[in-house]
Amino acid sequence: MRRTCYCGEVNESLIGKEVVLEGWVNRNRDHGGLTFIDLRDREGLVQVVFDPATDPKAHEIAKKARSEYVLRIKGIVRRRPEGTENPKLKTGNVEVVGKEIEILNPSLPLPFKMEDDAEVSEEVRLRYRFLDLRRPAMQQKLILRHKLAQAARRYLTDEGFIELETPFLTKSTPEGARDFLVPSRLNPGKFYALPQSPQLFKQIFMISGFDRYFQIVKCFRDEDLRADRQPEFTQIDLEMAFVEREDVMEVTEGILKAIFNEAGIPIETPFPVMPYREAMDKYGSDKPDLRFGMEMTTVTELFEDSEFKVLKEAANTGKSIKALVVKEGDRLSRKDLDDLVNMAIERGAGGLIWARVKEGSIQSPIAKFLSEQEVKNLIEKTGAHPGSVILMVADEWEKACTVLGEIRLFLGKKLGLMDEDVFRFCWVVDFPLLEWDEEEKRFVAVHHPFTSPMDEDIPLLDEDPSKVRAKAYDVVLNGQEIGGGSVRIHRKDIQEKIFNLLDIKEEEAQLKFGFLLEALQYGAPPHGGLALGFDRIVAIITKSSSIRDVIPFPKTQKAQCLMTGAPSEVAKKQLDELFIKVVLPKTKK
Ligand code: AMO
Repeated sequence: MRRTCYCGEVNESLIGKEVVLEGWVNRNRDHGGLTFIDLRDREGLVQVVFDPATDPKAHEIAKKARSEYVLRIKGIVRRRPEGTENPKLKTGNVEVVGKEIEILNPSLPLPFKMEDDAEVSEEVRLRYRFLDLRRPAMQQKLILRHKLAQAARRYLTDEGFIELETPFLTKSTPEGARDFLVPSRLNPGKFYALPQSPQLFKQIFMISGFDRYFQIVKCFRDEDLRADRQPEFTQIDLEMAFVEREDVMEVTEGILKAIFNEAGIPIETPFPVMPYREAMDKYGSDKPDLRFGMEMTTVTELFEDSEFKVLKEAANTGKSIKALVVKEGDRLSRKDLDDLVNMAIERGAGGLIWARVKEGSIQSPIAKFLSEQEVKNLIEKTGAHPGSVILMVADEWEKACTVLGEIRLFLGKKLGLMDEDVFRFCWVVDFPLLEWDEEEKRFVAVHHPFTSPMDEDIPLLDEDPSKVRAKAYDVVLNGQEIGGGSVRIHRKDIQEKIFNLLDIKEEEAQLKFGFLLEALQYGAPPHGGLALGFDRIVAIITKSSSIRDVIPFPKTQKAQCLMTGAPSEVAKKQLDELFIKVVLPKTKK
């Protein structure tokens, strides 16, 4: 007996025909002496009926088949008796009359129900991932993931990109996270680093003349994990020679269009482009969620001469006063407002001022400190209406923006303003090239040290490095950063200047990326690229709350694989071969 079709593919065209099916028992029911088995494979399930009157031998075996037993069944397809059709099933108009049955393998009782809506903790799902992945919802997610990857691959191949591989056993790459290290047995005391991205190699490909490169590739970063972060994740990585930032952006939009099209979601290109400064000012984030408005305004100058000390002082000491208007103010109780104040304080702001807008006045703890004119100006500047609530934070510009930005997101969720079926893309550009690190008392690269400054900002490298903007771009979808890239530096003099500013000494640069610096001197074309976070894209498309749900074998928050038990201790012999001795901290014996 050989399988003739998938269970989920049995349909009316097969009525009267014999089929051989192989799959798992989804459910086994006894009904009026008949045994009904729902047999399931990756394409769906079909009902198989065993009748003791016509096929006693097969019926006897069918009765014994429990959940998740693996069966091979031969039977005849027939139309379901009238009134017993199941419109919820793809195969719901037909059933198979079981003639022969073979139990290929039994199964232990299950740790959880296989139904998609069964309540089961993620810990148990990850421990029994082999069963979890058998559930229809997980199968559909991973099959879609495959299709989306193929769509991207097809698009890039059609656009003349060449898929090239880069090593996993390599040197540290400058993405800013901690490296995973691999000891080298043949080179005692030396370590490889797993790549945080193929960044330096793809630049080498451009110098080597491949012109357009891509790779769907694993990247490794030892960082604190969150719903959208895994220690190993997948990028759609690309690099192009002889391009400007707009060329990379156009190709990226093309890939995303191809991916979303494959998922049946039409999207419009080009995406809106927003300077970093504007994103922060209006949305308090460098990855603005544009599914809802609730934009912030700057009201600093309204309070320069205020009687209210806190605001006056902020306005006169270079701080910013940011305001957020909640149109649905009536839906916020006094307790809600108190909670928002606490939230702002927890996030490091000095406080949060709230004001309920009435006809021409406000109700607020600070109302008595504000003049009539100040209130009028505030309402006018923020565009608030009676019924709105105005929220204000006075702090350093970045802090005021981000704290109020987080409150904006919180309220967006609370008030149900974030529609899962809406996909709002945007580009965020003109990031600062450098950021002052107060602890280390030096500049650090916001993107990475090979990101090119804007041509017109090059003189600022000497005058005021903090004002230099980068030729970098992030692509953002519904408040998530789904990709990022930049035009690279291809001139040695500028690269040296940047290393100087970053306080990377010649010796250190040689040690870390000497090979790239050398290659840059042998005819490096202008080049740039980007990487998309593929897991994040699939998670958004499949409405998964975490990227763990679209990665077959993800790690937990503690970077463990509950199925395999990795990471684990290794035999002393293995460590000896690597000349490694483990010294545990004293508290953990
Ligand atoms: P970047 O570091 O911005 O750029 O990474 C690109 C995209 O990868 C995704 N991403 C992650 N996804 C899951 N888990 C993680 N830990 C994780 N870290 C990043 C994000 C991010 O936008 N070499 C550059 C690209 C370039 O300049 O061409 C790079 O790796 O969606």
